[in-house]
Amino acid sequence: MRIKPDFRKFHEVDAEALCVGLFEGEDLEDALLRELDQRLRGVLATALTSGEVKGKFGETLYVPTMGALAASRVLFVGAGKRSEFTFDTIRQVAGTAARFLRQRGIRSMAILHRSALDLSRSAQAAVEGVLLGLFDPGTYKTQEKEERAIEEVRLVAEGESEVEMQRGIERGMILAKATNFARNLVNEPASVLTPLELARRAADMAARYGLDIEVLDEAQMKELGMGALLGVARGSDEPARLIVLRYIPEGDEAFLSHLPTVALLGKGITFDSGGISLKPADGMEQMKYDMAGGAAVLGALRAIAQLRPKIKVLGLVPATENMPSGRAQKPGDILRTMSGKTVEVINTDAEGRLILADAITYARQLGAQTIVDVATLTGACVVALGSVYAAIFGNDPSLVERVIAAGREAGEKLWPMPLDPEYREQLKSQIADLKNVGGRKAGAITAAYFLKEFAEETPWAHLDIAGTAWLEENKPYLASGPTGMGVRTLAHFVCQEAEGGLSEHS
Ligand code: BES
Ligand code: ZN
Ligand code: ZN
Repeated sequence: MRIKPDFRKFHEVDAEALCVGLFEGEDLEDALLRELDQRLRGVLATALTSGEVKGKFGETLYVPTMGALAASRVLFVGAGKRSEFTFDTIRQVAGTAARFLRQRGIRSMAILHRSALDLSRSAQAAVEGVLLGLFDPGTYKTQEKEERAIEEVRLVAEGESEVEMQRGIERGMILAKATNFARNLVNEPASVLTPLELARRAADMAARYGLDIEVLDEAQMKELGMGALLGVARGSDEPARLIVLRYIPEGDEAFLSHLPTVALLGKGITFDSGGISLKPADGMEQMKYDMAGGAAVLGALRAIAQLRPKIKVLGLVPATENMPSGRAQKPGDILRTMSGKTVEVINTDAEGRLILADAITYARQLGAQTIVDVATLTGACVVALGSVYAAIFGNDPSLVERVIAAGREAGEKLWPMPLDPEYREQLKSQIADLKNVGGRKAGAITAAYFLKEFAEETPWAHLDIAGTAWLEENKPYLASGPTGMGVRTLAHFVCQEAEGGLSEHS
């Protein structure tokens, strides 16, 4: 798909469809809308007075121009209240428009820049909305495969700066494509996307974008003492892997030695059957998305490799299945984690925290000064926040704040949750240092607390994306299915840590 700026007047833009956002309650005071309405011989005024369109969020009005504009159709998209307008509104309007137009066989669309928001970031949001909106989760459909495609998108902003626009377009493309890369991984069935296959795809991605990669096998994990990760892997016939990606910016030794290292960790359970504590059959097919945190880390590293921030980044994805078998770990087993702490396994379905515990310890050993992990960790998080907010936890309030800010920038909502020491009580074991579940109460918190025990004094934040990584229903710019939750938050966070904003890319 080609995406380019177009600096002509809106009526000269010769795309098949021109999209125009409409604010709620808007009349024709705005000069541009008035001119557009005049050229369309009052179509908009009529629709507004009759109440056919009110600018309410997600509303659409599709009109042929009959030669009045160079574009053959105009699509008005409701943008909601002007006072509530943000970059995420742009994503939603652009995503709604792209999906609407593709369905009607349109091949080239243009989006009119109508807000007073920063041009580069507006362009970026529009590109994200379009590319995320057009993601097609029907990978394995042979019949109704989506053949219609939007081939060209123009961003129309008369008299604006080409450099600004181009920068926004490129950033939008990098972030949206990285998100869609993660969504494709999450969408794959578990028999295709085994831990080995995930590692292979990570290696392909790393080679393509110039990242270093190392993939540890089970013998190497054993050598490192990763008893928790290996405990989960025991029940599976598919061998486990620990994917370790490294992004190092350009610069000489002296320069690099002063840069901090951020580690991004993602839960990579390629299928979570629950293990011996087997899950019920109903909905178990969804548990192929239990590697969505891992996919988010791979997607974020892909974007980071292109955005080139001046900071060192580690990406760690412990990858394994969680399966029952004669060799599987059993409730009551004791695991010795890499940190030396011992864990009593009460429920083999609480496996995410086990594999992440060893990954956190390894990240610290590799010199991470900040750790952010992303995981589809608990059903309790889904109950608490649904699919609107992901939960965020941490041992450093400033870090949590910074990640929330990055999420805001990315259009991904994060809600802070408590981790007071009282919750530690629920993880006490009679026989070992910790047990892996904390009972029925505060399930998302005790899971996070378990991880906190392994972060020790390293600043650490944890995102529970169990409710937000997979959608049951369409959202304006996200089709139902995998969302790529976390990719853009992590990428923004890393760039922000490097220099207080998205950095330049080469
Ligand atoms: N992968 C699940 C959590 C999950 C649930 C993700 C629903 C997405 C949707 C996790 O490994 C799990 O099974 N957690 C258990 C923990 C319990 C045994 C303490 C849960 O949440 O039920
Ligand atoms: Zn589980
Ligand atoms: Zn799981």
